[in-house]
Amino acid sequence: MDSEDRPIGFFDSGVGGISVLKEAVKILSNENFVYFGDSKMAPYGVRTVEEVKKLTFNAVEFLLKKNIKALVVACNTATSAAIIDLRKAYSKYMPIVGIEPALKPAVECNRKGNIIIMATPMTLAESKFNNLMKRYSNSNILPLPCSGLVELIEEGKTEGEEIEHYLEEKLIPLKGNGIAAVVLGCTHYPFIKKSISKVLNQDVLILDGSKGTVRQLKRQLIKYHIESNKSKIGKIKIFNSMNSQYIIKLSYKLLKE
Ligand code: DGL
Repeated sequence: MDSEDRPIGFFDSGVGGISVLKEAVKILSNENFVYFGDSKMAPYGVRTVEEVKKLTFNAVEFLLKKNIKALVVACNTATSAAIIDLRKAYSKYMPIVGIEPALKPAVECNRKGNIIIMATPMTLAESKFNNLMKRYSNSNILPLPCSGLVELIEEGKTEGEEIEHYLEEKLIPLKGNGIAAVVLGCTHYPFIKKSISKVLNQDVLILDGSKGTVRQLKRQLIKYHIESNKSKIGKIKIFNSMNSQYIIKLSYKLLKE
């Protein structure tokens, strides 16, 4: 196999990174992809930084055995905890792309009201996010930790009463001062975008970091001359640490939605 046909590795704590993979498949349709979700150990966002680092390194070792040519850490939490160490360990072998909350486009949209950042407690507590926030200190940014939300999405609950009830409790109290945008700082959350719009019952801008991440991946493939030059559609393989067909089926379902 030519080196440029090796797959691109995607990793997340569970099914969330599928939202980023979905974007990648649209833009880089001739590439092969291999996805690893660590649903068995999800959620990561309430663990310690050391635990998340360890789990992330284990996942990357799994993907390396699949002969990947580039790595996308499609998890905001794992990016916050481990991207610096991952780059130290592996960037001599392949480009490594992480994800962060799409704060910049939210600020640049210049709408009135608060910018709400929904993310896991770890993402919001880590220095990566806090440094990002400092860059936009003139804007009204409200970090909103959403523990418990990843678990619902891992169960395939992206719509319906339970998810709406969760979102109502979190978001309705914030409506009073106006909402400029909602930034989805966790790759699981794009799957509940419809429910967020429904609960807010208004035309709110909802942003996530997947497009920016895929654009960065594309730039890296070009920079290292490792793009696929095939014209046919690439293959996608999905693996999960939870040994169950349910989670694999859910992953493919979310990819197609
Ligand atoms: N998709 C992960 C993220 O972007 C969820 C982390 C978790 O498992 O708590 O942060």
